[in-house]
Amino acid sequence: MRDIDFLIIGSGIAGLSAAIKLAKSGRVTILTKKTATDTATIYAQGGVACVVSDNDTFDLHELDTIRAGDGLSHEDVVNHVVTSGPERIHELQKFGIEFSTYMGDPNHLDLGREGGHSRRRVLHIQDITGQGLEKTLYDRAISEPNITILEYHIAVDLIRESKIDGKDINDPGHERILGAYVLDVKNNIIITFLSPVVILATGGAGKVYLYTSNPDIASGDGIALAYRAGARVANLEFVQFHPTCLYHPLAKNFLISEALRGEGAMLLDKRGNRFMEKYSQMKEMANRDIVSRAIDMELKKSGDDCVFLDITHKSPDFVITRFPQIHQTCLKFGIDITKELIPVVPAAHYMCGGVVTNIWGETDIKGLFALGETACTGLHGANRLPSNSLLEGVVFPHQTFLRLSDKEYLADILKNFDKVSQKVRVWDKGIAVDLQEAVIVSHNWDIIRRLMWNYVGIVRSNKRLELALQRIKPILEEIDSHYWEYILTSDFTELRNLALVAKLIIQSALLRKESRGCHFNQDYPAKDDWNWRRDTVLSKFN
Ligand code: SIN
Repeated sequence: MRDIDFLIIGSGIAGLSAAIKLAKSGRVTILTKKTATDTATIYAQGGVACVVSDNDTFDLHELDTIRAGDGLSHEDVVNHVVTSGPERIHELQKFGIEFSTYMGDPNHLDLGREGGHSRRRVLHIQDITGQGLEKTLYDRAISEPNITILEYHIAVDLIRESKIDGKDINDPGHERILGAYVLDVKNNIIITFLSPVVILATGGAGKVYLYTSNPDIASGDGIALAYRAGARVANLEFVQFHPTCLYHPLAKNFLISEALRGEGAMLLDKRGNRFMEKYSQMKEMANRDIVSRAIDMELKKSGDDCVFLDITHKSPDFVITRFPQIHQTCLKFGIDITKELIPVVPAAHYMCGGVVTNIWGETDIKGLFALGETACTGLHGANRLPSNSLLEGVVFPHQTFLRLSDKEYLADILKNFDKVSQKVRVWDKGIAVDLQEAVIVSHNWDIIRRLMWNYVGIVRSNKRLELALQRIKPILEEIDSHYWEYILTSDFTELRNLALVAKLIIQSALLRKESRGCHFNQDYPAKDDWNWRRDTVLSKFN
């Protein structure tokens, strides 16, 4: 058993930001299931959206966020995130982050533009913003004596108060977190972490789909952990598909940043026709859901495998300096983007929903917080405005820090914690035996990802959603039986989470009888504000 003050699960921008702040008030342990910098954050190319220019205003950023959110963004949250932006950016700069500047002028940040933004407002570090942020925050975290980072540790289940008495109370409002059971992957043992505060910052669930821009770690762990513990999750039908991932047999998950379109790149079909004007006046700068659906429609009509991005009209110097990583990676695959078209397809990219939190990042369960892509804070609504997620990833950890700095609040969380947590039992593996056949995991993983891509993708229908639900249920039952039969492995733990999140996405999509933002159902192609201008909320108790 390990006893700490703050347990943070996940080491991306949200987890590290929270850790650095909380280390001022107690002992922080960060768990990460691979290496500490193996996170979705390092794949973020675009940047951090923030109002820093004279020709931009908070009102405009808020309006763009609310428009993208298609009626479901919570306006108070949008206002808070947007207006806190400059202070959080300043703090990142103090940590040592150097955003790209315009023509080398240190007083003039270079601002990128992405779909749905009415102004240039995306602060970036060339096209490797996420790598720059992760590195600086990680270096800072490891220099803090109060922070311990445990790599190759994956959380299996959260420990909550009602469970230790053998009760499963049907009221998350009266539930309290005590810690987590965690698999130490290298030593193959389950450790019991006791902690009055657990923060879920495990990123998203893109791996639930066959094609995704996300890294392998994105298996929806935080959402699954919170749901199983009884917290509410919301808006999981709003899976954002990024319109432009590199289409190449050897390229796994490589994103071609929307910032290219922000600099004038055009989308063309195989015959060289620019097609976005048929779908939106904003053409390539329309919101992501519109561009992804347009590409999907063009591909279905033409039978082609991909469409193309064309940035060859810009000077090679500009392209190479602004997009060095994209230029280099495409060259590796034999494509010189300064002279040639880039083959692209849409892929699952971002989970707009997640674990329901309030403005402090608190979930329904006392002591349990969710941050970053794992959370549904109300900012993104039905469709996230690009580059708002890294901003959310620094604003909410600060909120959580403020909440936990309130002495009365903390005293309430700590009340009787030592006494109650003594009753927690160490993990008992019972009669479980080694899982000899890893194919059981890989086979189900593959089935789920294909099922989700084919039946719960960019364009949905009632028939396909119902079939998807029918097919996911026996898979979940099988996984549940293996959970008791076999000694847990990291792959199996991820599969268990992924399967549950897949089911929750299907259930949410079936509930919403309209089309809005990232959710398009051809049986209800219109938006229905009267009945559906509300979040889709699921809990294991309803
Ligand atoms: C991109 O660079 O296109 C991704 C930005 C984002 O998803 O916020």
